[in-house]
Amino acid sequence: MTDVWSQRAEAFRESPTHREGPDLDLLVEWCEPEPDVKVLDVATGGGHVARRLREAGCTVVTVDPAPGMKADVVAPADHLPFEDGSFDVVTCRIAAHHFPDIRAAVTEMARVSNRLLVIEDNVFRGERVEEAEQLRDPTHVRCYSEDEWKELVTHAGFEVEQIEHFDRRQSLDAWLERVDTPPEAAARIRDLLADRIEDGMLAFESIVLKARSSQK
Ligand SMILES: C[S@@+](CC[C@H](N)C(=O)[O-])C[C@H]1O[C@@H](n2cnc3c(N)ncnc32)[C@H](O)[C@@H]1O
Repeated sequence: MTDVWSQRAEAFRESPTHREGPDLDLLVEWCEPEPDVKVLDVATGGGHVARRLREAGCTVVTVDPAPGMKADVVAPADHLPFEDGSFDVVTCRIAAHHFPDIRAAVTEMARVSNRLLVIEDNVFRGERVEEAEQLRDPTHVRCYSEDEWKELVTHAGFEVEQIEHFDRRQSLDAWLERVDTPPEAAARIRDLLADRIEDGMLAFESIVLKARSSQK
């Protein structure tokens, strides 16, 4: 899985969906960025969250299990090699649906944050979408609903302060090409997602969640 992601590094650095957007702007704002705020960006991918937070003056450490992503630290979300409470803020954007053990990953992210968790991911929109996502990219594990996110974060000892949903659109072809989806899978994916495709654009929804540690 890690090697697959290393090969995709350039595609995710250049992807407009990942590089910018109102969701990214809000995620950065919810980190309460200031000089000297220490942030860990989990599953950093193309490093877009880290770039924006560094521009805002934060000290950012990036972590990702794929060596090709060139993060500061190579590790998966469910085994973060940091002491408890090492960071003021932990971020994780558009990646949790790839984690094999989401509860372990959220617990780890909460363990190393002493103040905030700010997470964005594609929100669960039904089993047809999940089937399409897995056909497109076998590293897709699952998307979660707002209620599931609230439960995961609360279970990890954080209180959800704010949630916002974003309705977004992206080129279906670019979405498939980014992960080299085989052509034979693409036809079935188009069928599964037919009611979400218009003029070659795929509608999708993401959730951004801000939660504060209830213990510190
Ligand atoms: C869509 S990219 C992340 C996008 C990035 N956060 C951004 O805002 O542009 C997904 C990333 O998740 C990483 N990943 C996959 N499985 C993971 C795991 N178990 N733990 C942490 N990261 C993982 C991949 O290596 C990849 O870099």
